[in-house]
Amino acid sequence: MAESILNIEGSREEQYKNLLPQVKALLAGESNTIANMANVAAALKETFNFFWIGFYLVENDELVLGPFQGPVACTRIPFGKGVCGTSWKETRIVIVEDVDQFPGHIACSSLSKSEIVVPVFKDRRIVAVLDVDSTNYADFNETDAHYLKEICGCLF
Ligand code: SME
Repeated sequence: MAESILNIEGSREEQYKNLLPQVKALLAGESNTIANMANVAAALKETFNFFWIGFYLVENDELVLGPFQGPVACTRIPFGKGVCGTSWKETRIVIVEDVDQFPGHIACSSLSKSEIVVPVFKDRRIVAVLDVDSTNYADFNETDAHYLKEICGCLF
């Protein structure tokens, strides 16, 4: 399974298209959310080698660090703060081309230059966000938004 997920050939869209059915198959046999988030983070890391990929889980009025791949990260993000808290508050995908230009961006690493955050819904409520960071500026676009949203939609 792990070997078939690793696809470093083709455009990013082709990589997502290849990855998506494998993620669906990976999640289909498991109901534990943490386990599934952990495998989604690992599959994305294996495929794209982004700098940081992980989930923050809604807990009361904060986001708390969940399964991730990459360097250590801040553990709690208040509602509405940073890119993650903004995505949660505004119930939308947020794409940031240059994190230094985003007011209130929370810098877990100075190496991170661009970022995308995708809300994760369960029963029409946001229960988590998926955060992906890149060391390249403007590394994320609507293609990432489309496929990451679809991947997050497989979690519940
Ligand atoms: N940059 C995020 C914080 C999380 S780390 O990037 C892993 C933010 O501004 O919400």
